[in-house]
Amino acid sequence: MTFQEEILQGIPAQLPPKALYDATINHAPKRKEILSAEEKTLALRNALRYFEPQHHETLIPEFKEELEKYGRIYMYRFRPNYRMYARDINEYPGKSLQAKAIQMMIQNNLDYAVAQHPHELITYGGNGAVFSNWAQYLLTMKYLGEMTDEQTLVMYSGHPMGLFPSHKNAPRVVVTNGMMIPNYSKPDDWEKFNALGVTQYGQMTAGSYMYIGPQGIVHGTTITVLNGFRKIGKEPKGNLFVTSGLGGMSGAQPKAGTIAGCITVCAEVNPKITKIRHSQGWIHEVIEDLDELVDRVKKAQATNEVVSIAYLGNVVDVWEKFDQENIHIDLGSDQTSLHNPWAGGYYPAGISFEEANQMMANQPELFKEKVQETLRRHAAAINKHTAKGTYFFDYGNAFLLEASRAGADVMAENPTLGREFKYPSYVQDIMGPMCFDYGFGPFRWVCASNNPEDLEKTDAIACEVLEEMIKTSPVEIQQQMKDNIQWIRGAQENKLVVGSQARILYADAEGRTNIAKAFNDAIAAGKIGPVVLGRDHHDVSGTDSPYRETSNIYDGSRFTADMAIHNVIGDSFRGATWVSIHNGGGVGWGEVINGGFGMLLDGTLEAEQRLKSMLFWDVNNGISRRSWARNEGAVFAIKRAMEAEPLLKVTLPNLVDDNLLN
Ligand SMILES: NC(=O)c1ccc[n+]([C@@H]2O[C@H](COP(=O)([O-])OP(=O)(O)OC[C@H]3O[C@@H](n4cnc5c(N)ncnc54)[C@H](O)[C@@H]3O)[C@@H](O)[C@H]2O)c1
Repeated sequence: MTFQEEILQGIPAQLPPKALYDATINHAPKRKEILSAEEKTLALRNALRYFEPQHHETLIPEFKEELEKYGRIYMYRFRPNYRMYARDINEYPGKSLQAKAIQMMIQNNLDYAVAQHPHELITYGGNGAVFSNWAQYLLTMKYLGEMTDEQTLVMYSGHPMGLFPSHKNAPRVVVTNGMMIPNYSKPDDWEKFNALGVTQYGQMTAGSYMYIGPQGIVHGTTITVLNGFRKIGKEPKGNLFVTSGLGGMSGAQPKAGTIAGCITVCAEVNPKITKIRHSQGWIHEVIEDLDELVDRVKKAQATNEVVSIAYLGNVVDVWEKFDQENIHIDLGSDQTSLHNPWAGGYYPAGISFEEANQMMANQPELFKEKVQETLRRHAAAINKHTAKGTYFFDYGNAFLLEASRAGADVMAENPTLGREFKYPSYVQDIMGPMCFDYGFGPFRWVCASNNPEDLEKTDAIACEVLEEMIKTSPVEIQQQMKDNIQWIRGAQENKLVVGSQARILYADAEGRTNIAKAFNDAIAAGKIGPVVLGRDHHDVSGTDSPYRETSNIYDGSRFTADMAIHNVIGDSFRGATWVSIHNGGGVGWGEVINGGFGMLLDGTLEAEQRLKSMLFWDVNNGISRRSWARNEGAVFAIKRAMEAEPLLKVTLPNLVDDNLLN
């Protein structure tokens, strides 16, 4: 059977042979036991819906075993044999170029080089799923392979509900992930309803097929580290950044530290992941002994070396050891997955990685206690360093939130609505006021030919566009423009591509539109193949997340989610090829609502109209909300947008004199 025939067959009529568990790749941890006996039967009944009754007898014991062993029914038997990676768009079957683009993006999200737990369909963040099981994957790819531009595929948390008649300007796919009735959106609800097979955690870019490997986050992290050093008035050179996590996103930190030019120490407890990052060249050295680490860091500090060091072990030990040894940490953060603290996102100190995995599955209550105890130690050690001058920021991983829930000393002395914690989030101090309020966010594109030469050409086009724009950019955004030009100039040299031929570039609405229009023109002129546009949900507009993306909103509205919902609705009728809205990406189930889009550029006039209409809305929706919250940069940016587009009329806030109020 050819690759195309395999896609079009969907779920095979004949059962494929039972799959062997491949121990050589990174697997999701066993999920905790959460279902009652009755609910387990329901989970099986749900899983069997995908298969002809004649197969049920064979599948029941197998699915039952998966549920017992792994806490989920992944349907390993149905994992296809072909290589999983982003192919040239023309290799996919179908009647719709847009649907082929989505097939490509899905496969990229499950590529072994890209995905964290590829056999469990998890792309990143420990639980960020593209699908919950392989039947959903097979069925979705089949629908995409047979649909036309007069249909829309409806995705309910990984489950393809089906193709519905629509029209050519409608999105080809509408995705929702983890949309719960608010009272059923606690972490254990995810465990339960995910185990039942009726919902999933889509993270931000996994369940929306827009993850492009760690590059996506390298750029944002580089900007954060650079601006973090600017914030404390220091050059990165010779100065120390301490953090943790070498996972899906966190793995970008050492690379970003190196691009920024500092010394990075990044702790990671998982040996497999540490090895992968080292072999990919994302970290220079791995050290397993704390004394050796201390000597190595002292040497790097003395010689102003640019180096990234992975410490294979618990990050708490690093903070404590560096305090005892009086090693000065300039910039500190943390990127363990505390949005997922009880299921492998955060490992307790004092016990081995294997022991912790056992405890998590078999003694979840004890595991929780150990995690909370470690969080208290972690915060106490950070507090000692900040008393000596370290600048610490929360990296949007719910560190301060979970530490506070564990009773750690992290609360502000005079808490206000929006400033509850001792330390700022990276959005409050860095990304919000310096980037998001001005509309700068993680715009990205994927060359659908998957030809590296196309990527090179698009890099050059984007660079040219920005160089032209900076000549007339207002002073308020000159720094961002310079950082982005520097980034795109060095992008080829930094060899950031893992998986599809993709690029990320922070840009504002004008920059995104100009770059996209230039790509569309180049496609029309036959210079490059089609291009998929998208962005991380972690952006100006896409995400309502009170402790992260919208943590620098101080009018109380950061606990609302109107912006994210409006964003995705607005994108869908302004020309997006697919849209998605998720509960739970980044900081945790129930803690955030985030939305995003994908858009195929094919060089047509229709694509030009769509990109202009949708990108303008996609960014300015968020700026208008930030401006209404009285954020200075956003007031500036929205006024500028209104000058450029007379049809835009946004309500502006009036400022009140504090003396009158007091
Ligand atoms: N990079 C960014 O710009 C960014 C932005 C916002 C939020 N985040 C957040 O950062 C977190 C990490 O994301 P990810 O995709 O890398 O997740 P991940 O689960 O792939 O990686 C986290 C890593 O931390 C390691 N770890 C856990 N506890 C540890 C400990 N005590 N000491 C040392 N290592 C430990 C884990 O083994 C894992 O490899 C998430 O909560 C994510 O939402 C990242």
